[in-house]
Amino acid sequence: MLAAVSWLSGVIFAAYIIAFFGGTLVGGEAYRWNEALPDLYDPASPLSTSAIGAHFVAGSILVLLGPVQLIGRLRQRIPWLHRWIGRIYVVSAAAAGVGGLAFIVGQGTIGGPLMDVGFGLYGALMVLSATMSYLHARSGRYHSHRAWAIRLFALTIGSWLYRIEYGAWFLLSRLFGSLAEFGDWFDAIMVFFFYVPNLIAAEFVIRAGRKNRTASANLSVSVFFVAASTFIAFVTLMFTTHTWGPKIASGITP
Ligand code: HEM
Repeated sequence: MLAAVSWLSGVIFAAYIIAFFGGTLVGGEAYRWNEALPDLYDPASPLSTSAIGAHFVAGSILVLLGPVQLIGRLRQRIPWLHRWIGRIYVVSAAAAGVGGLAFIVGQGTIGGPLMDVGFGLYGALMVLSATMSYLHARSGRYHSHRAWAIRLFALTIGSWLYRIEYGAWFLLSRLFGSLAEFGDWFDAIMVFFFYVPNLIAAEFVIRAGRKNRTASANLSVSVFFVAASTFIAFVTLMFTTHTWGPKIASGITP
């Protein structure tokens, strides 16, 4: 259930990227990218603008294809499909990372030096994980390939998680108004928080064997999965009604 809800949420996020950034580009209104964040589109910096544009294309591919690679039955039954999606995924990860890094160098982020560092490290780790995952698969070292592929997946979902975590923050701020005052420190934490915990979780997954869990442990895991699924569904609904949905509509309508 958690995987299905997360994937659906990712599909809506990818639809937003394709419809808004792609739709406005095709309609000759790429300057509207700046409605999402200032200076994403800057005619005076064609290299930075192209880099962030390439990173949009690659990023939406990552969000759509990542979960498909995790379906064990598909890997076993149609291994060539896993290999081909893997190649596209690794190239897209490298492109998203390099495109994002080029934008940081050329334009800088909205959050200044700390965000430049947080996002820069994120991009560098993504390029590293994509390269290592590919090289180990090519050499037949599947244990190491699996480890780097899990790290890569944990990083790529970070970009989606970043929006979900901000959505959660806005919701909490509305419920407990005073939280909004701490926006500055929250922003500072968030430039790392959307990928460092995922990487730590990935290390646990890489090392975890299949253990026999007790009935109460199974119940706790189920409760966690249902709560996390409900939460992600709720935040996605909020984002879709307030941001992604209207942006999808405005990107594809003239
Ligand atoms: C799954 C991969 C990724 C996706 C789907 C993605 C998506 C996006 C989107 C949609 C935006 C525009 C803002 C918005 O509408 O929310 C954005 C901005 C940005 N992304 Fe990514 N991204 C991904 C990976 C990366 C990576 C690896 C880097 C690392 C260098 C990166 C760096 C940036 C930067 C620097 C911006 C502009 C921030 C600013 O102007 O302050 N992204 N990304």
